[in-house]
Amino acid sequence: MTHRLIEQFRRRHGVQPAVSRAPGRVNLIGEHTDYNGGFVMPAALEFATWAAAAPRPNRSLCIHSTLNDDEVTVDLDHLPARRGHWSDYVIGVAVMLQRAGYSLCGTNLMISSTVPVGSGLSSSAALEVATGHALVHAAGGKIDPVALAKIGQQAENDFVGMRCGIMDQYISACGREGAALLIDCRSLAARPVTVPDRAALVVIDSKVRHQHAGGEYNLRRQACEEGVARLLPVLPGISQLRDVSVTDLERHGGLLPDMIFRRCRHIVTENQRVLDGETALNRGDGAAFGQLMRQSHSSMRDDFEITCAEVDLLADLANAEACCHGARMTGGGFGGCVVALVAAHEAEGFMNRVTTAYAERTGLKPMAFACHPGPGVGLVS
Ligand code: GLA
Repeated sequence: MTHRLIEQFRRRHGVQPAVSRAPGRVNLIGEHTDYNGGFVMPAALEFATWAAAAPRPNRSLCIHSTLNDDEVTVDLDHLPARRGHWSDYVIGVAVMLQRAGYSLCGTNLMISSTVPVGSGLSSSAALEVATGHALVHAAGGKIDPVALAKIGQQAENDFVGMRCGIMDQYISACGREGAALLIDCRSLAARPVTVPDRAALVVIDSKVRHQHAGGEYNLRRQACEEGVARLLPVLPGISQLRDVSVTDLERHGGLLPDMIFRRCRHIVTENQRVLDGETALNRGDGAAFGQLMRQSHSSMRDDFEITCAEVDLLADLANAEACCHGARMTGGGFGGCVVALVAAHEAEGFMNRVTTAYAERTGLKPMAFACHPGPGVGLVS
């Protein structure tokens, strides 16, 4: 990928670029907990976005995508507002970098990616993190990975208009070879967690993505905020659902309308599952972790209501396999992928059986792969 992109860049611009690479992600457990100040456990994937960059003489930013051969040129001193175009993610990052005091220079950017778009594997975070890294480096600067993750999230929140949390940008910027990260989304501290050798992480893309996903996402966030507001009088000092325990919610749940109660129950129990999941993996207990994955899926389906028929079917097919410790939907929801923890020596057969059964039932062609956690953003040569 890198070699081809460099060749293409040289043909177009006549100079050697620097290339930044940022990965997509899969989240093992902890869904929608990030914007509630809670815990998540993502791993960076081998699928990634590459941004080749070199300075150009004036103050313009030329953004070329090799995916659709589309090109956009904008003025760094008069960056446009959101236009509902793929380049919004890159322009949003440039806006936020300059707002945070990074001085950018005119840059030619050429982007390529292997992260499947719309599959819930964070193609947008990979794009933000790769281009942010490339822009800062082209201007001769440096940026700390956590600061870069925050810039990407701001671009998405305040420029693109999606109120996402920090998980996707964080893991794309800070991912660790061979490990998932348990991230505390309040303190932004993280520690590595490894999957036992005998187990494999398998990701299966349902190939379904519902159009209303973005709007529903923001509604879920609003419901969580409403839960906090209604619980505040009896739990003074709370600012996010992170501060509410499972027992607190059992005690005061009566104050909440049913829908808000179920949304909050997903978050507070999911936070606990992430912490319990870390303990399980640290003692090499794949079966216990798998059990938590199953509970997480049921909670997303029944309480948070972010799954859909196809993804439920895919998770059920995976969970029915004897070699599968557990499977759950991963990512924002309303389609996308299922992640499963399976006995390593059975992974091939598992993928074949589940994808065949899913294709027979839906007529869709799912894609499955075994995932090996990789590093976060960096320059590649
Ligand atoms: C999307 C968002 C993340 C996170 C997940 C759900 O991927 O970008 O911030 O909220 O959904 O866990």
